[in-house]
Amino acid sequence: MADQYEVSKAGAAALGIPSLRWEELPEGPVVVLLDQTRLPAEEAELVCTDVPALVQAIRRLAVRGAPLLGIAGAYGVALAAARGFDVDEAAESLAHARPTAVNLGYGVRRAAAAYRAAAGRGAGAGAAAAALVEARALHAEDIEAGARMAEQGLALLGELLPGGGHRILTHCNSGALVSGGEGTAFAVVRAAHRAGELRRLWVDETRPLLQGARLTAYEAARAGMAYSVLADGAAGSLFAAGEVDAVLIGADRIAADGSVANKIGSYPLAVLARYHHVPFVVVAPTTTVDLETERGADIEVEQRPGSEVTELSLPPGQGSGAGPGAAIAVAPLGAQAYNPAFDVTPPELVTAIVTEAGVVSPVTRNGLARMCSTSRWS
Ligand code: MRU
Repeated sequence: MADQYEVSKAGAAALGIPSLRWEELPEGPVVVLLDQTRLPAEEAELVCTDVPALVQAIRRLAVRGAPLLGIAGAYGVALAAARGFDVDEAAESLAHARPTAVNLGYGVRRAAAAYRAAAGRGAGAGAAAAALVEARALHAEDIEAGARMAEQGLALLGELLPGGGHRILTHCNSGALVSGGEGTAFAVVRAAHRAGELRRLWVDETRPLLQGARLTAYEAARAGMAYSVLADGAAGSLFAAGEVDAVLIGADRIAADGSVANKIGSYPLAVLARYHHVPFVVVAPTTTVDLETERGADIEVEQRPGSEVTELSLPPGQGSGAGPGAAIAVAPLGAQAYNPAFDVTPPELVTAIVTEAGVVSPVTRNGLARMCSTSRWS
């Protein structure tokens, strides 16, 4: 298992500042987040001294992306335990901070179970230490899973697209910002770039909160990739022009039948990919596969405030006298909005699901279940 220094170093190698770290301050432990709402304008850290602050950070997407939500949930439980708060209450509020990414509840449950097991053995203060050990283990496993997904994904790209020179389209953000290591789909893109096989990364801006334009472009620029940001609605003409060789995205929850919930706008890309005979590949750790959710229709999709669609948040310091949180209206006052955070792509549109435990293609219920049973973390 990686220690805290190694864990921080892995994230920092890609980002400069790790996406999340645990720190012991004289006044008590804290969870420190790279505040993703302020990127790319500012690399600012957000220090959470208690669980309500962390829950708030999760809800407003200062910390986000399925694997990192799991890690944040686990450290949140460790924080509550170390600071003497009610661990059951903390676990409950963390697990329900956002509904769609299955990793959040998974991380919370793992740290809470470690805490309860140690408390049940009469470990006293050792119970808080047990929760922290579990959070650190999950963090380290995520780094390892990212490295394996990158390897598996790169090999798959080699099979699907012999000849290299890949032009890959991605949506939302699935890199070091969502992980302790290099992420999920973006880790594969990074591996292709390192291997000299990435010709261009097409980055969907990802309305309404612009995780593509703000975050994926930030990571692509730091990595020195050739990339272009496009408006989500421009993807169709990009496919029609024959400019996309493969679509790579992450996932927030994969149901037992292989349906994939990911950032809103993923499903239209899958439809476009099928029409244009382009592989549509999902990269996610097995911790994102939820075998207890039978079908895509059973996945709870988070509905977010309409103001995220009808208003545009301004980067810190922009606009007249604007600080963080300032916004301008882009729709008439009082306009109603439809703002699901995720959509669900049916398995028949997914060419392959790449995990740390292997690749499932074609995507079938049995194939997915078999692969999860071979994962060392199942
Ligand atoms: O609402 P967000 O920004 O948390 O949504 C994140 C995504 O949809 C990512 O694509 C997903 O978590 C996969 S990245 C591992």
